[in-house]
Amino acid sequence: MNLTLIAALDEDHAIGRSHGGLPWHVPDETAHFRAYCAGQWLLVGRSTLAEMTGWFQPDHRVILLTSAAVHPPESPASTPITLAATVPDALDTARRGGAAELVVIGGARTYASTLPHANRLVITRLALRSGGTVRFPTISEADWTLRHREPERRDTSTGTAFAIEHWERRRP
Ligand SMILES: NC(=O)c1ccc[n+]([C@@H]2O[C@H](COP(=O)([O-])OP(=O)(O)OC[C@H]3O[C@@H](n4cnc5c(N)ncnc54)[C@H](OP(=O)(O)O)[C@@H]3O)[C@@H](O)[C@H]2O)c1
Repeated sequence: MNLTLIAALDEDHAIGRSHGGLPWHVPDETAHFRAYCAGQWLLVGRSTLAEMTGWFQPDHRVILLTSAAVHPPESPASTPITLAATVPDALDTARRGGAAELVVIGGARTYASTLPHANRLVITRLALRSGGTVRFPTISEADWTLRHREPERRDTSTGTAFAIEHWERRRP
């Protein structure tokens, strides 16, 4: 099973604000995120799940990473959610469910917990500095290879430039 982290980073590697939420609005990047996640097994941290209420679709299989043993009240009702208390629990759940790929959709603490287990990264580089203080963990080039960088494009509504990178873990 592949474990993929998908994230959008600004030029300072920021992904979010300290009080939650994305520090930008780039609809074409959001569309890329939505398209990649369609029909997938998704792993999400408790804080990000709370921000994404109403976003999940019936064809998503969602695993919520949380040390709490109860569903948060804001869980979307239409999408089944399985709880996992640890990253290995989440990986087991996805494997047992027959997942070919588990996609980690954030946020920062969840990316940090799962990066050591991941073998793929799909990283959007946004050409902006948002002032966000929540950051993606360091991608060490000793561990990761940039396989492909898509041509830079511009968001049609805001004009923000962004490029999508596909990284793979180096084999020992
Ligand atoms: N730019 C992007 O691509 C992107 C994507 C997603 C999110 N974000 C942003 O990221 C920010 C949120 O990040 P965050 O770090 O605060 O929250 P988060 O990772 O979404 O959630 C943190 C919570 O997840 C659970 N968790 C994480 N790792 C765990 C582990 N190893 N074992 C057990 N539970 C674990 C814990 O829940 P419990 O406290 O219940 O134990 C923890 O409090 C927001 O600003 C959001 O908008 C950005």
